Amino acid sequence: MRTIVRRRLIAACAAVSIGVAAHTGAAQARSATVTVSADQPGARISRYIYGQFAEHLGRGVYEGIWVGEDSPIPNTRGFRNDVIEALRRLKVPVVRWPGGCFADEYHWKDGIGRREQRPVRINTHWGWVEETNAFGTHEFLDFVELIGADAYVAGNVGSGSPREMAEWVEYITGEGNSALAQLRRRNGREKPWRLPFFGVGNETWGCGGNMRPEYFADLYRQFATFIKAPEGNRPVKVASGANGDDYRWTEVMLSQAARYMDAYSVHYYTLPGRWEAKGPATGFAEDQWASTLSHALFMDELVAKHSAIMDKYDPEKRIGLYVDEWGTWYDPTPGHNPAFLYQQNTIRDALVAALTFNILHRHAERVRMANIAQMVNVLQAMILTDGEKMLLTPTYHVFEMYIPFQDATFLPVQIEAPRYTYGDWNLPGVDASAARSPDGGLYLALVNLDPNRPVTVSARINGVSARGAEGRVLTASAIDSHNTFDAPDTVRPRPFRGVRRGDALQFELPARSVAVVAVRE
Ligand code: AHR
Repeated sequence: MRTIVRRRLIAACAAVSIGVAAHTGAAQARSATVTVSADQPGARISRYIYGQFAEHLGRGVYEGIWVGEDSPIPNTRGFRNDVIEALRRLKVPVVRWPGGCFADEYHWKDGIGRREQRPVRINTHWGWVEETNAFGTHEFLDFVELIGADAYVAGNVGSGSPREMAEWVEYITGEGNSALAQLRRRNGREKPWRLPFFGVGNETWGCGGNMRPEYFADLYRQFATFIKAPEGNRPVKVASGANGDDYRWTEVMLSQAARYMDAYSVHYYTLPGRWEAKGPATGFAEDQWASTLSHALFMDELVAKHSAIMDKYDPEKRIGLYVDEWGTWYDPTPGHNPAFLYQQNTIRDALVAALTFNILHRHAERVRMANIAQMVNVLQAMILTDGEKMLLTPTYHVFEMYIPFQDATFLPVQIEAPRYTYGDWNLPGVDASAARSPDGGLYLALVNLDPNRPVTVSARINGVSARGAEGRVLTASAIDSHNTFDAPDTVRPRPFRGVRRGDALQFELPARSVAVVAVRE
């Protein structure tokens, strides 16, 4: 769980980014140049990069997604309508469940059958609270069908058995008259569910069993052997992978077990400080802005190094790299149970999300899934709830603005921009990503990392004649601006455009902002 965060005083972007001398003084105009090679398309950006993670943790599942059929909060079969509707708008491609650390103490048979007869357990990882098991396999798979997402179920290696895992897969996918398929039918589901993704363990180096990679490589091979499903519904088998920059874990896993895995996962969290003193979610100063964004940019080095190891053992790139937990992690919010990992979400989080997407786009050949931690009320959430109230966070808006990048074709981008510096921190001032979406449109995302100064961006699009660009920008009045239940629209996207100047498109990008535009050709 305790993913490292390295302090990077000089953070580089993986895009071809050329630093030019920074202008000094707030009054001076800053300018940057972005060149998009629309005539040199690259890999497909998997829509699963926009995946989510929902763990039995705090108010993520219970209250956040599930309120039960008898709740006064408007719901569909127990799922809150406001959250379902917001998630549908987001076109969530995949949801990972039930953990996280919770996965390795979850026994799936606790969560099937009549709800009132399900056993109450203790959630030992997250606050020692009672787990009623009201939300189990049927509820999760019903939920993902409701929001139009694919299921990614994480199996229990740490305290489970190969048999328990195999039976879970059979219960979900079984077609015939096997006892498990019949049990599923008796519990109300006639047809098998689709099961596109199945995870073997979670953080087996930590909360998933404190294993060594040599031991887990063998265990992975054993457990994965028994994951069987009917043809046409065979899940991608995901091996639990490294803690941040533990490249040795990847080396051992790939050298010992590559042929048994379809995907390999890595977890990386962005903290402004250290695990013992992470820093607050709001009310922070500029050094924490710079440090957070710098740590978010470390994702590029991390993915590049894990990918290089994977290339050694899988040069054809058959195995996907899944960053199946990522996002910001701050100090506990006063007044909330510290084990519930509830935190506010500001324009800073929006920039972390956008920078992360831009990095993952650049690694699209290898990175085929990412799952932000977590969907509702936990860590870098899309949605926060309080009783019947709900709000959309700045991170939600970035996910929504980036929808055109789902399954789009990557286009290389070269950036020339002033650096953003604060104290010892030295970061690229501007980041960008471009892609041709499946609907044929050309989309450009721009990020201004400087919290104080706007920048004029001149974008040249090689290979097309760009006439203009329209879209939306997300910015805010302060570095910790956020939405509250009383003021839910403080940070929301607004219309934004670029105009043609000579052979380029010109954008006036506000300080601390993310913009996504469709280029008019
Ligand atoms: O997302 C919260 C926790 O972070 C997960 O349970 C665990 O896998 C990670 O350490």
